[in-house]
Amino acid sequence: MTCDADSVSETSEDQTACGAVCLGTPRVTNTFRLTRPVFFVGFMGAGKTSVSRKLARQLGLAAVDMDTFIERQEEKKVSEIFEEQGEEGFRAIETQVLAELASREPALIGCGGGVILAEQNREILKRDGFVVFLKVTAVEARGRISDLSTRPLFNDVDEAIKRNQDRLPLYEEVADIVIDTAGKSVGSIAYEVRSALEKEGVLCAQRK
Ligand code: S3P
Repeated sequence: MTCDADSVSETSEDQTACGAVCLGTPRVTNTFRLTRPVFFVGFMGAGKTSVSRKLARQLGLAAVDMDTFIERQEEKKVSEIFEEQGEEGFRAIETQVLAELASREPALIGCGGGVILAEQNREILKRDGFVVFLKVTAVEARGRISDLSTRPLFNDVDEAIKRNQDRLPLYEEVADIVIDTAGKSVGSIAYEVRSALEKEGVLCAQRK
């Protein structure tokens, strides 16, 4: 499905920029909708949650963080699930949650970094969504994660470099777009994602 309404060119911020001069002029604002779920993938610390939340605020769309969703559903922290059920147990829950989110009203979804490991998940991502791969080096990612105890699979940088390298072909396999996040702010990454979503007809503006 693609956009059938106006293309996304005017934001509500543009519309209100003239302030008092515009009093009495009918105000045109846009609401936005997604034609497909947008999945953010990439290594731990790539900025999936921050970028999806920023875009959601800008566009008035829903953002869902998969790990937070899992923690609410299981009433446990991700680290506790790893301790009690191992990585295998966590991955089974992750697949169930991914399938559920893919079938819901389209939203901006920040996936856990390992979501691409299961072939079944990669099929869901490719079939049902538009996938944004936020690329980051393990060294840069380490600097962005304040508390490593929340990431059971990020123990030290050398191990993370290897894990990130091993996963690279899988991130690339599912990606509709790849954004190198090196040295960029959350705002500028969000801007790049938004432009791509407009261009691909995944983000549509509706005037009201
Ligand atoms: C994981 C990434 C984490 C979380 C879990 C496993 C991984 O999510 O799902 O600790 O295998 O890369 P973030 O990528 O949001 O940190």
